[in-house]
Amino acid sequence: MHEDDGQIRRMCSDAGARGKHRDGRETEGAGHGALLLEVQPPSDRSQAQGFRTNAQTVRNKVNDTVHTLEDDVVIPGLPNSLDIITGPATNTRRNAWPPANGDTQTPPSERERALDSTDVARHWEANAEAWTRQARSGFDIFRDAVNTPAFMAQLPAIQGREGLDVGCGEGSNTRQLARRGAKMMAVDIAPTFVRHAQETECKDPLGIEFRVGDGMALPFVEESFDFVTAFMSLMDMPDPQRALREANRVLRSGGFLQFSILHPCFVPPHRKVLRRRNGKTRAIEIGDYFATTTGRVDTWWFSMLSRKQRQKVAPFQTPIFHRTLSQWIDLVVGAGFAIEKLGEPTAGTAPGRREAVLEDTEVAPLSLIVLATKRRAVSGPSPAPTP
Ligand SMILES: C[S@@+](CC[C@H](N)C(=O)[O-])C[C@H]1O[C@@H](n2cnc3c(N)ncnc32)[C@H](O)[C@@H]1O
Repeated sequence: MHEDDGQIRRMCSDAGARGKHRDGRETEGAGHGALLLEVQPPSDRSQAQGFRTNAQTVRNKVNDTVHTLEDDVVIPGLPNSLDIITGPATNTRRNAWPPANGDTQTPPSERERALDSTDVARHWEANAEAWTRQARSGFDIFRDAVNTPAFMAQLPAIQGREGLDVGCGEGSNTRQLARRGAKMMAVDIAPTFVRHAQETECKDPLGIEFRVGDGMALPFVEESFDFVTAFMSLMDMPDPQRALREANRVLRSGGFLQFSILHPCFVPPHRKVLRRRNGKTRAIEIGDYFATTTGRVDTWWFSMLSRKQRQKVAPFQTPIFHRTLSQWIDLVVGAGFAIEKLGEPTAGTAPGRREAVLEDTEVAPLSLIVLATKRRAVSGPSPAPTP
């Protein structure tokens, strides 16, 4: 599998320049005109309650996409980790016009077409610099406090095994896998993520090889790995069936796949978190569960980003391809896997973290973790996607 062991050394010597904070911390991407985030993420409820103001501010900027806030409804939903400030309406705005990103040049007919891998790569590449900086500053609290701990708790033993992490982002979770003793390979479709991951690997080597690659067309031969992981990336892929079949193809017989996705039941195209005036989560409103999306682009910031910080950084734009729970199960089984275990992480599994936004996960889970073993090999192209 690691036929090109010279690649890491070459990439290390090619690694781009990094800057330094005044306090000596590394400033990833500082040489690329990046905006530095100096402020630590908020951790108490009083700041979380300030989100109402945030949401209203954003509504002014992207007023085509945000729901009117009801009297006791403070914070819109949180797909991915976070605060989709353009949340619920974004989720149903597949054809919204004018678009939140101000692109009025592209005609609606073109914007409505299904997104493909190239579109997905473009969006994630545009997010990657700011995402890396913010995630490494602790703003991705859903990942760090809820999803990844639950994922690791559910993971079978990986000590001494060869693994592939698909959609690795800036590599934080891949590094956790490597620290558990696995020999890790990782791919992501956005080159900037891979560059940041590789730079960290050069600085603090864990034997990980990071590559630019598409989870739907993995650059590895059959049966290269003992296990495959994908943290919150498969729902970002236009054809998850192909991605699952690719995972099956590169797995050795008896190997396992473990992935997390936005929970199909509780983060469908329409989601809104209803809160009491004291900030406590009251309920999650969901809708459009049966609407398979082929190119929805959500616009949002990490919840923990303050109002001031949001004025300095552009929101993320992430393509999401929603499937129902039964569709996901059909896809996993159809790709030759037997499902062994499902996980539904909640902040209850994150002792010590009481941020208000994490409480949403005590009402309903934000992500679903699936552990499956390779039952049989599948070959040939993916059948046509389910409508
Ligand atoms: C929500 S981020 C999660 C990143 C990382 N796994 C983590 O948990 O921090 C989704 C990641 O999937 C990547 N991605 C999306 N589509 C992909 C594809 N077709 N192949 C590989 N990576 C992809 C994105 O570039 C992004 O890094």
